[in-house]
Amino acid sequence: MLNGRHLIEPNDLSVTEIDEICSLAEQIIVDPVSFQDVCRGKILAALFFEPSTRTRLSFEAAMLRLGGAVEGFSDASSSSATKGESLADTIRVVSSYTDVLAIRSPKEGAALLASKYSSCPVINAGDGGHFHPTQTLTDLLTVRQLKGSLEGQTVGFCGDLKFGRTVHSLVQALSRYPKNKFIFISPKELQMPDYMLKNILEPLKIEYRSVERLEDAIGDVDILYMTRVQKERFFNEQDYIRLKDSYILDNEKMKLARRDMIVLHPLPRVNEIAVEVDGDTRAAYFKQAKYGMFVRMALIAKLTGSL
Ligand code: NCD
Repeated sequence: MLNGRHLIEPNDLSVTEIDEICSLAEQIIVDPVSFQDVCRGKILAALFFEPSTRTRLSFEAAMLRLGGAVEGFSDASSSSATKGESLADTIRVVSSYTDVLAIRSPKEGAALLASKYSSCPVINAGDGGHFHPTQTLTDLLTVRQLKGSLEGQTVGFCGDLKFGRTVHSLVQALSRYPKNKFIFISPKELQMPDYMLKNILEPLKIEYRSVERLEDAIGDVDILYMTRVQKERFFNEQDYIRLKDSYILDNEKMKLARRDMIVLHPLPRVNEIAVEVDGDTRAAYFKQAKYGMFVRMALIAKLTGSL
């Protein structure tokens, strides 16, 4: 039963529940008109204390396409946070107006804190470098649609694996499906955090290796998950400038990849995928962004008890 639950990290959902949400999203893709009144009379609050394009707009589009309404803010400076209001107070009040709440914050743990004070379901739309579970549902639906299975995939994660919350969330989720393997491609300074390796991968005995060069891994992967170097999480601009162009996927490197490999990216892209790759049939990141809206429709419908 998903009705009334919060979604703070991917592990809040069982594998069966993830599959249920993806299956519902797949039904919506096939016949969206049948779902257009499912949330009639319900309201989503989108509280974005950090910039966003896709996540916020896809949440809003999802609720609107279910027949519901949306309210919120996309900039902390237009909320009472600037007057010194605590997150707890904001959430207590907003949740009394709405049926479901999506929150993004630069602070790790903000969504969890919000869930303690909310009288309606809270969805974590990204908390600092921590987790981003609805991006993960987006990624899982994309893999199901384009690769046919969430099992037995070799997934290369490339770029900022230290601060990339989409990476942490997807690794956590894919670790729960059998026979997936990971290749972590990053500069030394941006490697997967130790807690991910020690708490998630090692106890489950998941096969992984770490490399520094994309060319050393690209030919081995079924899925290449590219990521942006997370400028906003750096303490030192010099480090960002030095690391920002560590990887650039271009047509030359795509020649080394398998014919049935797919390239994913949560977006926004900066320099890490050359625009020339967009025309390659294996480039799936714009399709992925579209799946994000459908999976959020399924999630909202379930958490609000509308289906
Ligand atoms: C990601 C995020 O916000 O973590 N974007 C998104 O939600 N699609 C990735 C990023 O910002 O690099």
